[in-house]
Amino acid sequence: MTTLGTPLSPNATRVMLLGSGELGREVLIALQRLGVETIAVDRYADAPGQQVAHHARTISMTDPEQLRALIEAEKPDLVVPEIEAIATPVLEALEDAGVVRVIPTARAARLTMDREGIRRLAAETLGVPTSPYRFCDSLPELQAAVDEIGYPCVVKPVMSSSGKGQSKIDGPEGVEAAWEYAMSGSRVSNTRIIVEGFVDFDYEITLLTVRSVGASGAVTTQFCEPIGHQQVSGDYVQSWQPHPMSDAALARAREVAGKVTENLGGQGIFGVELFVKGDQVWFSEVSPRPHDTGMVTMITQWQNEFELHARAILGLPVDTTLRTPGASAVIYGGVDAEGIVFDGVDEALQVPRTDIRLFGKPESFVKRRMGVALAYDADVEVARANAVEAAGRVKPRVP
Ligand SMILES: Nc1ncnc2c1ncn2[C@@H]1O[C@H](COP(=O)(O)OP(=O)(O)OP(=O)(O)O)[C@@H](O)[C@H]1O
Ligand SMILES: [Mg+2]
Repeated sequence: MTTLGTPLSPNATRVMLLGSGELGREVLIALQRLGVETIAVDRYADAPGQQVAHHARTISMTDPEQLRALIEAEKPDLVVPEIEAIATPVLEALEDAGVVRVIPTARAARLTMDREGIRRLAAETLGVPTSPYRFCDSLPELQAAVDEIGYPCVVKPVMSSSGKGQSKIDGPEGVEAAWEYAMSGSRVSNTRIIVEGFVDFDYEITLLTVRSVGASGAVTTQFCEPIGHQQVSGDYVQSWQPHPMSDAALARAREVAGKVTENLGGQGIFGVELFVKGDQVWFSEVSPRPHDTGMVTMITQWQNEFELHARAILGLPVDTTLRTPGASAVIYGGVDAEGIVFDGVDEALQVPRTDIRLFGKPESFVKRRMGVALAYDADVEVARANAVEAAGRVKPRVP
């Protein structure tokens, strides 16, 4: 049985978000609606989620001492990672000591924090199909790996996200540049990279997979409709739901997602990224948390991915049913400045059946995601066009 408390009272149910960006903000809002007391943690002040939580804490989450001290001081019932760059050994130690429950599990947070843990688990332990890959720590190692894998191939720092430091190599002349680029884009001073054979997929999807407690008390797995998305330089610009798939490909996708998420365990939502060609499916990566391309569910599902996550982690039942086809399109900052303003939100919302989220980030960068436009329509292609149109009508500028 799940019992929920009263926030700001001694019997509150307290949840700490590690990372409070736009995805964390929506999880926090979903938790607030259930009367959960929330603690929003980020590395900078006034992060989007901190603006909607009961408590805001600003620390370096990659610093083991700071992270341990904060969790021990706050004693939340649940710790919910929203980002990858966290001192995950601290989470494992505190979970092992019974101090806190980590969502979905501390092990899942560790395995998915860099590309090596999750790739080796999927390909080598679980035998799930992936692109061919090698891990390298130097340019000569990369050269040797590329000689084996062949062209084209993709190079990524093992510690990076949103396409940072990622590039495609089309021939021998591109190897050194890819190495240099990866070194410039790695999140930490880590020289390790993965090189992957390029998968010539027809399309790629995110399969949102939810592990929640069923009526029997056992954890059950449910899937959302597949989300199609378009990536530019490794960063998502547009997503839509549902993406049409053959029965065979969908069954295969669910099988792969089920296998990976079952191994990671715990409760919550996972964004399983898959490449599809015909009826063939390759596992790419997984977020043990809501996924950026899943923002589309804010307009397409009865319970969006953030509500699903909030409910699943609290032990509540979930409903993954699609409400309507729809799409999302990213609104970028377009300028490097603090405290920017957004013109044209009214014009954007004049596009039929659309909605807008502005994340409230204190500082804008040209390529920083500052908001998202959402659209629904019986025809997913119309929804896509409308989402892109609405996003384009929002004009961020320096005041
Ligand atoms: N081996 C590959 N073959 C073909 N395309 C690939 C391959 N690896 C990555 N891509 C493309 O690059 C995109 C980003 O790659 P990936 O998801 O691994 O990086 P990421 O930096 O973690 O991105 P994000 O954090 O936004 O999910 C993929 O969604 C896909 O479009
Ligand atoms: Mg990805």
